[in-house]
Amino acid sequence: KSKDRFIIVSNRLPIKMEKEGTSWKVSSSAGGLVSALSPILKDRGGIWIGWTGATEPVGLRTCREILDKMSKEIGYRIFPVILNQEEVSLYYYGLSNEIIWPLFHDLPGLANFEPHYWKAYRNVNGKFARVVARHSKKDDLVWVHDYQLIPLARKLKELGVERKCVFFLHIPFPSPDIFMKLPWRYELLADLMEYELVAFQTAQDRKNFLSCLNSFSKKFKTYGRGPVVEVTDGNRTFKAAYIPISIDFKGFTTMAGAEKVHSILKQYKSRLHRKTVILGVDRLDYTKGIPLRLRAFQMALEKYPELHENVTLVQIVVPSREEVPAYSELKDKIEKLVSSINGTFTTPGWVPVHYMYHSVPKDELIALYRLADIALVTPLRDGMNLVAKEYCACKLDNDGVLILSEFAGAAAQMYRHALIVNPYDIEGVAEAILKGVSMPQREKKARMRSLRKNIREQDVFWWVNNFLRVAAGKTLVDFPEK
Ligand code: UDP
Ligand code: G6P
Repeated sequence: KSKDRFIIVSNRLPIKMEKEGTSWKVSSSAGGLVSALSPILKDRGGIWIGWTGATEPVGLRTCREILDKMSKEIGYRIFPVILNQEEVSLYYYGLSNEIIWPLFHDLPGLANFEPHYWKAYRNVNGKFARVVARHSKKDDLVWVHDYQLIPLARKLKELGVERKCVFFLHIPFPSPDIFMKLPWRYELLADLMEYELVAFQTAQDRKNFLSCLNSFSKKFKTYGRGPVVEVTDGNRTFKAAYIPISIDFKGFTTMAGAEKVHSILKQYKSRLHRKTVILGVDRLDYTKGIPLRLRAFQMALEKYPELHENVTLVQIVVPSREEVPAYSELKDKIEKLVSSINGTFTTPGWVPVHYMYHSVPKDELIALYRLADIALVTPLRDGMNLVAKEYCACKLDNDGVLILSEFAGAAAQMYRHALIVNPYDIEGVAEAILKGVSMPQREKKARMRSLRKNIREQDVFWWVNNFLRVAAGKTLVDFPEK
C-alpha cells in the first residue's frame, strides 16, 4: 500500500558509519531523536533518509551495500545522504550546531554567527531534498525532523517535486527577543511556512513560534485553540501544533524486567555496597547543565555531612559534537569539577562521583536506571529530555525519585510528581538532592506511580499516532488539555 508510506528524514540516521583503516565500522547513534524514532519505524515499517555520520569519502555503492545489510537486520529501509568534510563542517557543526542549537536553547552568547554557514546549510538541505525526491513517490508523506532540515520542504518545491511535507521540531523554539537575533530569521520562518504542519514539543514552544510570526508580519491570523491551530497569512494556510514526544514505554519495561538486565543490576549492586545512587545521563552538551549539577552535588556534600559515604553520583557523559569548541571546553570543565569533588571527599571505599565519558550499551543503561534511587535531570534548556522518561519507565517497583529541571520540555507533563528545580539555583538543587535521599517510601512510590502512568498513556506510539492524525486533518485522541 504505497499510499500509507511515510518517509522519515532527519540529519542523523539510527546508525553511524566510521572508517577504521580500510573498512567501515557501523555503530548505533546516540540522542533523543534516534531513540524516539527507531521503535516507530520498527513497528510500522517505512523509510528513513539521513546522513551516514561519516566525513570520510565513501562511494554510494559501498554505502548502499552497508546500509542495505543493516536495513535487513533492523526491519526498515535506510537511504543515505553522503556529505563531504566541508559540508559537515559548515552545515552540521556550523549553522546547525554553532548557531541554531545555542540560540534555540536560549544561549545566544554561545552562538558563532559565521556568515558563510548559511549558504552551506541551504545547499546541504538541497542535497537532502534530491535524495528524498529519488526515493519517494507522489502519495508519500515526507516527515522532516529537527532544526538541521528546516529548509527541506522549500528545497523539494524548488526541484519541482510535489510531496506532502510535515515537520517536527525536537528542540525548543525560542521567544522573539532571542529568535530575532538570527541574521536569517525571516528566511527560516518562511521555510517553516512551507510545511503543511509544523509541530513542537510544548505549548510554550508553539506560542513562541506564533509570536515570532506576529512580529514578522501583522497579517498572520490564527484560527482555533488548543494543541492544533490553523495559521494563515491570507494566501497560505498551515497547521501549528504541539505534541510532546515520548519513549517506547513497553519496550523499556520489558527490557528492564529481563534476565540480562537483572544480572547486570546484581553486579552493580554488589559493587556499590548499598550506597544511595544518583544518576545523570547526558550527551556532552552545555544545554544539559552538567557543571552546575556537579556544583550542586558538591554543595550537598558540603552542607549535609550525613550524605558522606552514603551517596554516589554516577554521571554518564556521551561524547558529542567534539569539533565544536564550546563542547571540548565543556569536557575539560566537567573533568576538573569531578576530580575536585573526588579529591576533596573520597575516603577508602567511597568515591563520590563515578564519571564515565563514553556511550553505554542499552542493557547496561537500563540496569543503571533500575539501580538509581534518584535521577538528576537538570538541563538549562531541553526540547523534551527522554532520559527523564526512560528512568521512570524502568522503575518497575516505583522506587525512585526524579529531580527535573523546570526548563526541560518534559516538565510540562511531569511537574506535578517530579521534584522540580531551577538548574541555576545550586542551593535549591542541593536541597532537592537531600529531599530525594530522605523521601518517605510512600511518597516516593505515589509520585513514581503517577509519573509512570503518564508515560505509559502518552508513549511514543501515542505521539506518532496523534502526529499522523493531525497531518491527515483528524482530531487528536487521548490528549489531556493540561
Ligand atoms: N543514550 C544513548 N547512548 C548512551 C546513553 C544514552 O543513545 O550511551 C540515549 C538515551 O537513552 C536517550 C538519549 O540518548 O534516549 C538522550 O535523549 P535526550 O532526549 O535525553 O537528550 P538529547 O541527547 O536528545 O539532547
Ligand atoms: C538532539 C537533537 C537531535 C540530534 C541529537 C544528537 O536530540 O534534537 O537532532 O540527533 O541531539 O546529536 P547529534 O548532533 O549527534 O545528531
